[in-house]
Amino acid sequence: MYRAAIIGCGAIHALHANALRNNPHAQLAAVVDIIPYRAEDTAEVHNCDYYVNYRDVLKDPSIDVVHLCTPHHLHYPMAMDALDAGKHVLTEKPIAIRVSEADAMIQKATAAGLRLGVTFQNRYNPNARRAKELLEQGALGEVRGVKGLVIWHRNESYYNSEDWRGSWDLEGGGVVINQAIHTVDLMQWLGGPITAVSGQIATHNLGDHIDVEDMASGVFRYANGASGIFFATNDYSTNAPVEVEIHGTEGFLLLRGEDLIFKGELVDITPTEGQKVKHKSYWGLGHQDLVDGFYAALAANNDNFVSGADGRRALAVVQALYQSGLKGRTGNL
Ligand SMILES: NC(=O)c1ccc[n+]([C@@H]2O[C@H](COP(=O)([O-])OP(=O)(O)OC[C@H]3O[C@@H](n4cnc5c(N)ncnc54)[C@H](O)[C@@H]3O)[C@@H](O)[C@H]2O)c1
Repeated sequence: MYRAAIIGCGAIHALHANALRNNPHAQLAAVVDIIPYRAEDTAEVHNCDYYVNYRDVLKDPSIDVVHLCTPHHLHYPMAMDALDAGKHVLTEKPIAIRVSEADAMIQKATAAGLRLGVTFQNRYNPNARRAKELLEQGALGEVRGVKGLVIWHRNESYYNSEDWRGSWDLEGGGVVINQAIHTVDLMQWLGGPITAVSGQIATHNLGDHIDVEDMASGVFRYANGASGIFFATNDYSTNAPVEVEIHGTEGFLLLRGEDLIFKGELVDITPTEGQKVKHKSYWGLGHQDLVDGFYAALAANNDNFVSGADGRRALAVVQALYQSGLKGRTGNL
């Protein structure tokens, strides 16, 4: 049984806590939040210890795994401290706000023989898993193009709800690094490695409330010569279903929300028990499966989980898009 601690008791932590409760290998032993009542209330719900200073939980030798559910800029220092303390780390996305930070985290975990996981739970969505199987079976032939669209809604009250949101220093960017990074990840996981990125970023309707972009577009070049087209915005009236389309030499595959359309036909997909856990639809269904996958990999001592390297690959595309957007040039990865 692995004893886990969650650092950060805000919006997302409950999905980690519930996933831990349902996992046969794990037990939620402690929670941490810098806001004392959040830590205390969460500990009461889960009948566990609580701390307000994350360094205190790292001193507990009985804690094996730390889940990071904190603002983006804290993933790097907290992961480094947790790894130094000998804990495995499962961080929420993005892995960090800079690729150099992700590299240091991966290097430290590897050197210490510890696992570093990243929460790209949309990989576990039933339609994404089925799409991956179809692509691995060669059902689409060779990938020629990949399209990713994230057309969502975030308003003033969302950005004003926590001081880290909407800031380059604390969030590391806007719609791309926060909301659309899952889609960037899927565009690479399904389409293959991206080697160059050209993009634009802009701030439109949310400009009075945020420093970061609320809209971005990108053109990606894939290692096999395929092209990628990416568009993301937080300026729409609602969270429209995310779309990822793969164009292969043998036809098209489209993920749209929770659906999968393969060569024009809607594919029948049954969610697993883990995927039926209550969730906000735009977060996807996969936290339970992702957490289960992480602990199964710990128990089996294998690498079959969404890793720091996966987190770094998506962040590298995000960072290249930002740099291209700011400098007006294509960035090579
Ligand atoms: N995977 C997903 O689909 C998904 C969805 C939502 C959020 N997230 C990610 O989860 C993370 C947290 O997002 P959120 O929406 O829950 O944010 P949030 O602001 O609601 O919660 C963050 C919590 O961290 C706490 N915190 C801040 N500094 C701390 C410190 N030094 N020590 C301890 N606690 C501290 C805050 O008090 C707050 O309770 C982000 O990385 C975000 O991108 C992922």
